[in-house]
Amino acid sequence: MQVCVILGDGIGREVIPAAIEVLRATDLPLEFVPAEAGWECFERHGTALPDETLAAAQAADAVLFGAVGSPSFPVPGYRSPIVALRRALDLYANIRPVRTEVQGLRTEGSVSQSSVLSPQSLVDLVVVRENTEGLYAGRERLEDGGETAVAERVITRRASERIARAAFELARSRHLSVVSSPLSVGLGEQPLTTDNGRRTRPHVTIVHKANVMRETCGLFRATALRVAEEYPEVAHEEMLVDNCALQLVQRPERFNVIVTTNMFGDILSDVASYWGGGLGLAVSANIGSNGRALFEPVHGSAPDIAGKGIANPLAAIGCAALLLEHLANCKLQIANYRPQDAAQPTSERLIAEQFRASAKRIHTAIAHVRSAGPHTPDVGGHATTEDITVAVVNEMKI
Ligand code: NAI
Ligand code: MG
Repeated sequence: MQVCVILGDGIGREVIPAAIEVLRATDLPLEFVPAEAGWECFERHGTALPDETLAAAQAADAVLFGAVGSPSFPVPGYRSPIVALRRALDLYANIRPVRTEVQGLRTEGSVSQSSVLSPQSLVDLVVVRENTEGLYAGRERLEDGGETAVAERVITRRASERIARAAFELARSRHLSVVSSPLSVGLGEQPLTTDNGRRTRPHVTIVHKANVMRETCGLFRATALRVAEEYPEVAHEEMLVDNCALQLVQRPERFNVIVTTNMFGDILSDVASYWGGGLGLAVSANIGSNGRALFEPVHGSAPDIAGKGIANPLAAIGCAALLLEHLANCKLQIANYRPQDAAQPTSERLIAEQFRASAKRIHTAIAHVRSAGPHTPDVGGHATTEDITVAVVNEMKI
């Protein structure tokens, strides 16, 4: 199967090669197709997202993306390529799971964040972020001769409805431990969300700011609440975004699935990532219609540490595992279209099992390295990107 690989800028060029090294160690039939995007690409070619890259991403079975370094000042002709890619491939759902690992309660040389939580209150949540519109729709302009800057916040019923449905489907599949849904990447083979060992009811928190942004957040809220009615087995609540930020700090264990608009989801998922060990460990899947999917760490190009060889590659490696789960799901979907083969496992089913087994091996190896080390500086150690990669690959062989 073909994987389009976009390194991007900064530490994207360090952590994605680490993820590829891990994928190669699985011996799965994967073909890697390199493609360019980002700031360096813009400086070289005058475009941050060349047509060839878009075509390669469209043609591949999945995309693995590092990070791009976008300047914080206007540059004529430059637009964030990841935002453009998400829109061009219609990757409407950004799925960002955050979990504390029991084994990761204490790490070498430092006490990890999760140690301030009691074992009963482990965090196991997913931020489901709308990925194609909102304040990131790119509708910005200057008025009054540059004295006023205006951004249009675009919210549509269609996009709100499909992201809300994605969140409720995800909550339901998490509860049932269903792993064949394209949205359930990263969630298979894990224990159900529990409350002191008891199975809890799936739960969605609809996050908005409709008290101020009455039309845009109002439409998102009303649409999500209407979708909620279709899922009586999934509990739901609504929460204003500022309170949600506080709750993610004070009582993160109360959340199960959070669904929200583009920019709120971007910000809240960085906050939530703290409970999973920080940005160096935070994974994300961008899932679209027609089985399209792009996997990328939540972090950016980290110019402060780029080139030092100390970036934590575990988020990128975790994304590689999600990518394998996604490819397994794709294979299963093909197999399920052929019910006459149900009694006899089809080759697609067998390949799907291999992909899923490799994903599990990677997840297990990551969990081991998280707890036993080595650790990069962001989680209190002195190891390099390469040390972590070697440790993960060695652990996969055991
Ligand atoms: P950032 O995520 O790149 O870094 C934030 C902090 O976390 C930095 O101190 C960094 O060293 C640390 N960090 C991030 N990933 C790490 C890792 N794997 N290992 C160890 N430490 C890690 O966010 P920042 O600094 O706000 O943005 C830098 C650039 O990245 C900007 O140009 C921004 O536009 C871009 N960016 C790109 C994204 C993408 O391509 N999807 C997402 C976020 C930012
Ligand atoms: Mg972000």
